[in-house]
Amino acid sequence: MKKIQKPRGTKDIYGSEALKYQRIEDTAQNICRQYRYSEMATPLFEDTQLFRRAVGEDTDVVNKEMYEFQDKGGRKIALRPEGTAGVVRAYLENNLQTGSAKKFYYSGTMYRYERPGQGRLREFRQFGVEKFGVETVLDELEPIRIAVEIFQALELTIDLRINSIGCTCRHEYITSVRAELEKYKDALDPADREKLDSGNILRRFDSKEESTLQVIKGIPKIIDSVCEPCLEDYQKLKAFLRELEIAYTEDPGMVRGLDYYSGNIFEIDLQGREQLGAVCGGGKYPHLVKQLGGQEEAGFGFAIGVDRLAEAVVPPVLGDEPLFYLATVGTEQQLELQALKIARELKPKGHVEINAGPGSLKSKLRKADKKGAEFVIIIGEEELKKGTAIVKNMATQKTDELDINNFKLNDYQF
Ligand code: HAM
Repeated sequence: MKKIQKPRGTKDIYGSEALKYQRIEDTAQNICRQYRYSEMATPLFEDTQLFRRAVGEDTDVVNKEMYEFQDKGGRKIALRPEGTAGVVRAYLENNLQTGSAKKFYYSGTMYRYERPGQGRLREFRQFGVEKFGVETVLDELEPIRIAVEIFQALELTIDLRINSIGCTCRHEYITSVRAELEKYKDALDPADREKLDSGNILRRFDSKEESTLQVIKGIPKIIDSVCEPCLEDYQKLKAFLRELEIAYTEDPGMVRGLDYYSGNIFEIDLQGREQLGAVCGGGKYPHLVKQLGGQEEAGFGFAIGVDRLAEAVVPPVLGDEPLFYLATVGTEQQLELQALKIARELKPKGHVEINAGPGSLKSKLRKADKKGAEFVIIIGEEELKKGTAIVKNMATQKTDELDINNFKLNDYQF
């Protein structure tokens, strides 16, 4: 029978790879907690309208890539393509806006119907942070600092890229860009040409089409036309980063692919792994809370692409505690009980694994060796009667007899 395979663009995670994911999650969580962020878990699926309103109708994420369906009750549902919209909805729905908890982190799977490839999955994991009540550039700095610290803690070298996409001040820029793009209309990719008259012109900067990118290259950059306060915020961010000795590069072509941003934005690449695409992205969203029905309150956040990160992270070294492999030989039922008793004694000293299945001693020793066991403890019917066990040190291959009722492995040097 033909085996069923996992859907395209998804991943099974196990073994040492699962340990890498665990390491990323633990590291990121610990750092967030140090900064007093608390966890927020939101549903994997939401009312489609949430993403349309928050992320924007004109973005690829909503327009082309969203998994949408009608549930059995006829509701329009979407699998979340990102985490910010859900966190803001939850923040408002649970009346948290009037409370003092304003800093959240989350982690989980997101869904985008993208063409699977280098660093691109259809089900992928993000670790994200959202901070509300952002008033100053110093408030914005904190999430960026957290992101940078997470990468540092994972011993990865990064490139932090920053830009500002201005506030309402960008309208003038957008008008001039539109005029400029009109001039070179024929050189644009047809899909981008079609969208010239509609929607957010900044999205053309996200185009993956070479012909469009060539045209974009020659167009003045948004950072050169933002208003005085936006420029000031950008300059401040740079000064603060320098003060903290966080290296950055200015990326005037970066616009981010989601509509809710204004002001300072950033992305992070892993050095030497640029082909994966950005491993983290975020920025300021001053109006999203209001747009989703709350009081005006600015937010700033980011999300790390955990799967991209996992490609570069090394798995954690598991504790250097020894593995004791307990092998019973024989059919006597008491053997299992005896094995359990020994296992209980050994547990504080290391990892214990019991093999009380059928199989010969030889095959059990082979298994123990494969697993990298430091000690094999053998109990056969003979030992059971005597109240002893045979201990084999796998490194020296020496064996000795152990008194089960009175053993101290710590003194046990052979
Ligand atoms: P984003 O840039 O769309 O931002 O996604 C953040 C990160 O998720 C990306 O940098 C990338 O590492 C990862 N990612 C995105 N799409 C895929 C994919 N198809 N396969 C694998 N990894 C992917 C956001 O989602 C915003 N919500 C971030 C944010 C939070 N801004 C403010 N707060």
